[in-house]
Amino acid sequence: MARIVVLISGSGSNLQALIDAQKQGRLDDDAHIVSVISSSKNAYGLTRAADNGIPTRVHSLYPYTKAIPKEDKAARANARTRFENDLARLVLENKPDVIICAGWLLILGSTFLSQLQSVPILNLHPALPGCFDGTTHAIEMAWQKCQDENKPLMAGCMVHYVIEEVDKGEPLVVKQLEITPGKETLEQYEQRVHAAEHVAIVDATQKVLQQLRK
Ligand code: GRF
Repeated sequence: MARIVVLISGSGSNLQALIDAQKQGRLDDDAHIVSVISSSKNAYGLTRAADNGIPTRVHSLYPYTKAIPKEDKAARANARTRFENDLARLVLENKPDVIICAGWLLILGSTFLSQLQSVPILNLHPALPGCFDGTTHAIEMAWQKCQDENKPLMAGCMVHYVIEEVDKGEPLVVKQLEITPGKETLEQYEQRVHAAEHVAIVDATQKVLQQLRK
């Protein structure tokens, strides 16, 4: 049974897509989500996991940095290292075969990645490869760019392997969505992106599970 750990920060609609796929037998090799870890205690995704009997943990950066002045860069960097070390330990405790960042909003740096080199880590990013990397506002930036330029723009979302360079890892699944200026509101485009994400996250997870079986 392949063991999946999912990292979240928010509503968890992509986590829900994975939970539904698992329940409907659409994930390979009887894969199971064995843990959901959230960077926020308020994430509704925690409720989604608990409602489906999936163990959850909250691992927030705030307790590590709250007593450190913003300008104390060295101390904050040290705190971030401790945060990533503790996150790596939390994740590894679950003996994951694959880690899925499903709306996880924190950058995973070398401290974390160096301890997880043997485990594929996937990330969902609501933009095409090479577009709007490193931002959490990719959806609205793509829509706005289309309006500003007043010409159709190919956008969409992808699931890629996580490497140190943010959002630069090899794409596993890419879903293209064309935006036509003046034809849809930001909210309408955002709905299309989320619908595409919910398919992409399952397709990508399925792909990596099949690669693991080889
Ligand atoms: C998704 O649009 C994801 O691309 C972005 O945040 C959103 C997460 O949604 N990082 P959810 O928490 O899975 O509902």
